[in-house]
Amino acid sequence: MTARQVGKAEILSEYRPRPKISVIGAGNVGASVAQYAVERELGDVVLVDVVEGIPQGKALDLAQAGPVHGYDSSLTGSNGYDETANSDIVVITAGLARKPGMTRDDLLFKNAEIVGSVVEEVVKRSKNAILILVTNPLDAMVQLAWKKSGFPAERVIGMAGVLDSARFRTFIAQELQVSVENVTAFVLGGHGDSMVPLPRYSTVTANGGAEIVAFLKSGSAYYAPAASAVEMVEAILKDKKKILPCAAYLNGQYGTKGLYVGVPVKLGRRGVEQIIEIKLHADEQAAFDKSAAAVRELVDKLKL
Ligand code: APR
Repeated sequence: MTARQVGKAEILSEYRPRPKISVIGAGNVGASVAQYAVERELGDVVLVDVVEGIPQGKALDLAQAGPVHGYDSSLTGSNGYDETANSDIVVITAGLARKPGMTRDDLLFKNAEIVGSVVEEVVKRSKNAILILVTNPLDAMVQLAWKKSGFPAERVIGMAGVLDSARFRTFIAQELQVSVENVTAFVLGGHGDSMVPLPRYSTVTANGGAEIVAFLKSGSAYYAPAASAVEMVEAILKDKKKILPCAAYLNGQYGTKGLYVGVPVKLGRRGVEQIIEIKLHADEQAAFDKSAAAVRELVDKLKL
């Protein structure tokens, strides 16, 4: 904070650069996160990827859309991490995407290696950042990132529930021929086949992601995952205190302890500011427990 004298009035001026959002993994999801984030001018974006030229090329391309869309956020692409220093938020999408026939769980060990090394590089340079994990299998990756980072649990969050709920809402809106804005829905539990849609009668939802994998043949969904991650980024940077379903660290809530699972949380500038406990019916609680057990099984395989 610097103070300067202007006549009698003392004007306090503080140089506040735009928030810095780093996106690790400049593939389909990462590039779309960067796109949505700059389109909303949420901050300056640094894109990082292991493949040479990709983050630089995509960052420049997106920067050149700025004059058309009217954003001034800066975009930087890099194969290293120095540019990510002092990030406010780091969105981690690095990893392998699910291929047809592959379950999210098949990716576990490969992506654990990638996410582990990414987190190490990130936290060295951004000790106060909030980490948003997108890489699958999500619940296990966020647990791993929390352990590796040494950050408090409220600053390490997984993106799953916003996406699963958005898919749920899309299908309901299509079925009922109403605006998606008129449909609210919540999906709890792990981000996988055991997720718990509330109300429970939707069965199409659990396959929303697999359906896209089958259509695309190579690669998996990215527009909706990126839009969902950016909704979280916005809630945090604007300190909106928005209640969104996210993978959050449970310490006894919902009968689960020491594990990241999808639940409604209040997102603000400090990250997960509150875990919202809603009373589940017995059958919903049973489904939640089953989903949490599936997550725990995966996490146990990582021997964290
Ligand atoms: N460091 C940085 N980037 C990496 C690393 C690494 N160690 N390893 C891989 N990457 C990069 C790849 O080079 C690639 O550009 O991560 C990017 C992943 O992009 P895509 O293959 O296009 O995958 P995407 O569809 O973006 O999905 C990424 O998000 O939704 C999840 O299941 C999905 O786990 C997957 C992740």
